Amino acid sequence: MKLNITVLPGDGIGPEVTAQAVKSLKAIASEFGHNFRFKYALMGAEAIDATGSPLPKETLALCKSSDAILFGAIGDPKYDNDPSAKIRPEQGLLELRKSLGLFANIRPVKAYDNLIDKSPLKRENIEGTDISIYRELTGGIYFGEKKLSEDGNTASDLCEYSRMEISRIAHLAFKAAQSRKKKVTLVDKANVLESSRLWRKVVTEIGETYPDVNLEFLFVDNAAMQLILNPKQFDVILTENMFGDIISDEASVIGGSIGLLASASIGKKYALFEPIHGSFPQAKNKDIANPIASILSAAMLLEHFGLVKEAKIIQKAVEKSMELAITTPDLNTSNIQVTTTNVGDFIEDYILHPKDSDLNFTNIHLGQSTII
Ligand code: IPM
Ligand code: MN
Repeated sequence: MKLNITVLPGDGIGPEVTAQAVKSLKAIASEFGHNFRFKYALMGAEAIDATGSPLPKETLALCKSSDAILFGAIGDPKYDNDPSAKIRPEQGLLELRKSLGLFANIRPVKAYDNLIDKSPLKRENIEGTDISIYRELTGGIYFGEKKLSEDGNTASDLCEYSRMEISRIAHLAFKAAQSRKKKVTLVDKANVLESSRLWRKVVTEIGETYPDVNLEFLFVDNAAMQLILNPKQFDVILTENMFGDIISDEASVIGGSIGLLASASIGKKYALFEPIHGSFPQAKNKDIANPIASILSAAMLLEHFGLVKEAKIIQKAVEKSMELAITTPDLNTSNIQVTTTNVGDFIEDYILHPKDSDLNFTNIHLGQSTII
């Protein structure tokens, strides 16, 4: 298959982790005879530094001319601590999502067997957790009208949703549930918010057209608690933009590190793949950031284009790296230092030599190979 992929490494650890994802895609291309072409463009704080805009026109044009986008991370502390900054890196990502119509953000959350003990949560509560969060991505409070009074003492952000915005992602969530455990949980705040009550109404109606899927409702405050107490009760979680942002970071605790969570942002025409984590500026250029979220985002890219076998190999390689504790410091408690690049090299190596025995990989872990 021929794919033109735009790579937006972005800020902080973005370039380091994205480089590992590109490496695994190149390995897949060479193993399976695909033709993946990569073009790079600026976005975020580095784009502001270079061009004055967080999403330069050329970047948007390149994204629109490609089949898929692989995105790293966005954000820089110099903007976080300056609430009066008019131009912010995050605007680039929000504008990109809106311009490309990426309304559905799919965030899988899994408890990996080999990492269960890395989570601060109890083994018996999280073992077997497998959730798919469907977060609405181009509406709600993120994109509603923003106001700041002239005296600077009053501010507001409007949370607005239309039936169309709710139903298009709801259909995707129900369809996903049909090939999973056949349950959708709508997370909202319908006891307080009018917009949430519209979500309940529309999702209930749509739910009736998927009789094989069980629809449940949870208020977001309760959902936040249930995610920690009993995450195994969830299959597909459907929710609006802001709630989805918050509960997906929370859910990352189940897997043991936010550095593991990948995502796909899908629209009618375009698709973008990105880790859910931020730019982790403290780790920039230190080769310590976990590249797995980015590598698994690359696997979601492959899956999106029907390259299921290829995606599975990446997922298997990732699980192997966990089994052998070839993991970055956020997960590794052993005294062998494993870098971002080491993890990427291991995944690449596994893709290129899938038939090698476990023994060889064990040797790698023990430091008997040149890889580490
Ligand atoms: C995410 C991020 C973004 C969001 C930021 C960087 C704008 O936190 O993708 O979850 O809030 O959507
Ligand atoms: Mn977030």
